[in-house]
Amino acid sequence: MATVLVIGSGAREHALAQAFAKSDQVTMVYVAPGNVGMQADKIHPVGIPMTDIDALRDFATMTAIDLTFVGSEEPLIAGIVDDFQAAGLPIFGPTKAAAQLEGSKSFAKDRLVAAGIPTAASVTVTSWPAAERAIMTSEEPVVVKQDGLAAGKGVTIYPTRQAALRAVQELYQGNQQAKLVIEAFLRGVEFSIFSLVGPNGIVHTPVAQDHKRLLDGDLGPNTGGMGAYSPVRWLTDDIVSDAIDRLVEPLLREMATNNTPFTGVLYTGVMLTADGPKVIEYNVRFGDPETQVVLPQLQSDFYELVHELVNGRQPVVQWQTADVFLGVVLAARGYPVAPEAGAIVPTISMPKIRSFYAGVGQNDDKLITSGGRVVTIVASATSATRAQAQVYAVLDALTTKLQYRHDIGYQAVEKENKVVSGDANRY
Ligand code: AMP
Ligand code: GLY
Repeated sequence: MATVLVIGSGAREHALAQAFAKSDQVTMVYVAPGNVGMQADKIHPVGIPMTDIDALRDFATMTAIDLTFVGSEEPLIAGIVDDFQAAGLPIFGPTKAAAQLEGSKSFAKDRLVAAGIPTAASVTVTSWPAAERAIMTSEEPVVVKQDGLAAGKGVTIYPTRQAALRAVQELYQGNQQAKLVIEAFLRGVEFSIFSLVGPNGIVHTPVAQDHKRLLDGDLGPNTGGMGAYSPVRWLTDDIVSDAIDRLVEPLLREMATNNTPFTGVLYTGVMLTADGPKVIEYNVRFGDPETQVVLPQLQSDFYELVHELVNGRQPVVQWQTADVFLGVVLAARGYPVAPEAGAIVPTISMPKIRSFYAGVGQNDDKLITSGGRVVTIVASATSATRAQAQVYAVLDALTTKLQYRHDIGYQAVEKENKVVSGDANRY
């Protein structure tokens, strides 16, 4: 029997904890820090901050944790895997060196270029004159990314060079050495590939599509993600395996050649363009909210899967294919700029509706907002159209101050309805 430690506090970690708790081999899942919404039979939030690596290592040692799984990028980039491994504690994730793939956009670009992997052309700049030159020679719209950690929120797409120049000049007035990546805008449809990578094995989950913009119709600022669905049935198996061959496998080979071999979860953000799939970004952990729609599809044992990978074996896994899982994120008012704390968070108890909690606290016996993204509500049904209808039937009946998008899964729903109306050639 085994005990597991999941590190992080969001809805993604709630989904991870539930997946581990389902295993017959697992007696207890601790989540550090976790949140009050996760508390369940075999799930126990322990309140240790995810940046306090010493305290996490001491806890894992004292509690004799059999497997640690890191949900969030922050501790990975800070080197938690190196630290746990040095203490002889089993942990699944990339080393500090390999985690630079997410921690540093310029490190990622160097690996992409070295491996010849298709991606947006880009220039890294560290001064206003260099940034000005790069923007002046860019096509419109102009994509500007901040180097370093930004949880998906460090990217701005400016419709014109003028708008980019204004914003970037202002940024350099605040920080004269800011490191920015200025890159070409990629046109196409986005999807995410998640690959669990061990030293001698690899498992790709069903692919997912995220919705990063705050507002319906993909408008408003980028967020960590406002909703997702999986599988993405309108992407053929050939498209997905071609993307894995071109964007995932060569990266893993390049990481090994570079002496930064990758283990852990590789998140490949893909743009399917007219010239084929291209990498938008790599992350070194599962996506949030994608995890909430991907992991409930696993029919085999998640603990067994990760345990086999960590121990250098190739696991055998089984995913469901009958349903589409579609999740909508409820966020506090004011998110992503200034989320309002203290609003009541709805609790939903209905068959086939799952709730994964994130930024919640407790007031008496009620859950209240204490962060930006608060809860992901997931429905599953035989089509995206039905799953979308089910989740919004539940959400639209709530009286809530929380905000959410009303069109999660719209691309899948549009494609399903085109097929139904006989216009299958359009996709
Ligand atoms: P990232 O943090 O790099 O994943 O970027 C966040 C989001 O910005 C992506 O999911 C895309 O929707 C968008 N994005 C980033 N880079 C580009 C690009 N070069 N072209 C078009 N959209 C982009
Ligand atoms: N949902 C996007 C991310 O996890 O980065």
